[in-house]
Amino acid sequence: MKIAFAKPEQPTSGTFVVGVLEDRKFTPAAASLDKKTGGVLTRAMGASRFKGRKDDMLEILAPKGVSVARVLLIGLGKVDKLDALKLQDLGGRIVAQLNRAGESVATLPVENLPGAPLQAPEMAANIAFGARLRAYRFDKYRTREKEENKPTLRALNLMATDVAGARKAFAPLDRIADAIYVTRDLVSEPPNVIYPQSLAERCRRLTAFGIKVEILDEKQLAKLGMNALLGVGQGSANPPRVVVMRWDGAPKAKDKRPLALCGKGVTFDTGGISIKPSAGMEDMKWDMAGSGVVIGAIEALAARRAKVNAVGVVGLVENMPSGTAQRPSDIVKSLSGRTIEVLNTDAEGRLVLADVLWYTQDRFKPKAMIDLATLTGAVIVALGNEYAGIMSNNDELTERLIAAGKAVNERLWRLPLGDAYDRDIDSDVADVKNISSNRGAGSTIGGQFLNRFVNDVPWAHLDIAGVAWSKKDAPTVPKGATAFGVRLLERFVADHYEET
Ligand code: BES
Ligand code: MN
Ligand code: ZN
Repeated sequence: MKIAFAKPEQPTSGTFVVGVLEDRKFTPAAASLDKKTGGVLTRAMGASRFKGRKDDMLEILAPKGVSVARVLLIGLGKVDKLDALKLQDLGGRIVAQLNRAGESVATLPVENLPGAPLQAPEMAANIAFGARLRAYRFDKYRTREKEENKPTLRALNLMATDVAGARKAFAPLDRIADAIYVTRDLVSEPPNVIYPQSLAERCRRLTAFGIKVEILDEKQLAKLGMNALLGVGQGSANPPRVVVMRWDGAPKAKDKRPLALCGKGVTFDTGGISIKPSAGMEDMKWDMAGSGVVIGAIEALAARRAKVNAVGVVGLVENMPSGTAQRPSDIVKSLSGRTIEVLNTDAEGRLVLADVLWYTQDRFKPKAMIDLATLTGAVIVALGNEYAGIMSNNDELTERLIAAGKAVNERLWRLPLGDAYDRDIDSDVADVKNISSNRGAGSTIGGQFLNRFVNDVPWAHLDIAGVAWSKKDAPTVPKGATAFGVRLLERFVADHYEET
């Protein structure tokens, strides 16, 4: 789907999309179209339940007086509530509706509305952003798809008086959408295509944005002493990798310490010797979503030349059962020097991150460190698919992340950490064990384990197991890989870590 901005003019074909405010109050475009068609819009509204509430939609086919094939009335709701998120949702809903209708071209006038929080160029940009986010589709492996099942919408034309202004407002959002597509692609790919080596190779593409990419292979990881991470990968024919991605967008900053983003990248999680049941195991192809989000977020920052020093570090492994796999009760010496008793090989994400977090804080001395991981099924029990869990050793960092999440509709809910939980992972034979002796608080236990490897750096852990993949369409997130976290992190950086 192509998005274009142009000066206002009457469309002569395709769908004409016009907005109507709450209580059937016409926008200027709707009013003029109603006049031109001899009141068709008014009559159609009167014959339907369309009230102009947000989410209301009404399709009018082949109206008299104009040559367009269709008019789509879209409810805008209350004008003062028409913020960026609402407009993005609107853009997403329009795309979905036009694809359902089989339309290929649509035109949408965007004009200043008295009382609206945003000016027309920003409104147009946000509608376009939402449209792009919803138009995502992972279809590279469908070679025989029926025409009637394919999306039809090829062009969305947004008409604004200030074309240059709209384009300028859209440019950074367009780049963020590109980065979200990258993440969604990586997370959607099957595990025979995306495994540690191939995922690391994909990271090299980021060099095109001015990002420095460094790939550590298993020999280098062994030399460093990342035995916790290596232990997870030792049962697989696909050897582990760690990738470091550096975006130095603020080389002259007074404080050059970077913001660090760390990702769990288990390209497939069978559970290892503590093997998972076969039903649903296919979901574990997206157990690398944390790393996919880190890759996308670093690209998003570089693509819009964010004035921030950021480093992304992803730990890539495949967790397989085999004759070389690690056993429950194995003890590994992690990079930090702490020994870990591995009592359950399916609690592998924390083992990977233990070494990645330690490495990151030790090498980069970051201002703050944020990890993203599909770490526990327990976070789905607690929060379902609406919120990701956040656990942190720092209140300010937590508040900033929660606020950024609110602003982009990627919501976070804080779960506790504390000494009482920490005692549950004391091992009888090693420094720490990778599961608790008690049932319950599974996500917190995961966070508590990670906490032992952050060396008191301000740190937050985002457990995205419930939000990385979606089984149903949402306005700006089609079902499948969501890329939850890319927008949040981009916003978090823009709000707090960028020099102006
Ligand atoms: N990758 C899983 C967590 C997961 C489960 C993500 C469902 C997405 C959907 C993780 O590696 C895992 O297996 N965690 C275990 C931990 C347990 C053994 C302490 C879990 O949640 O059962
Ligand atoms: Mn697991
Ligand atoms: Zn896992």
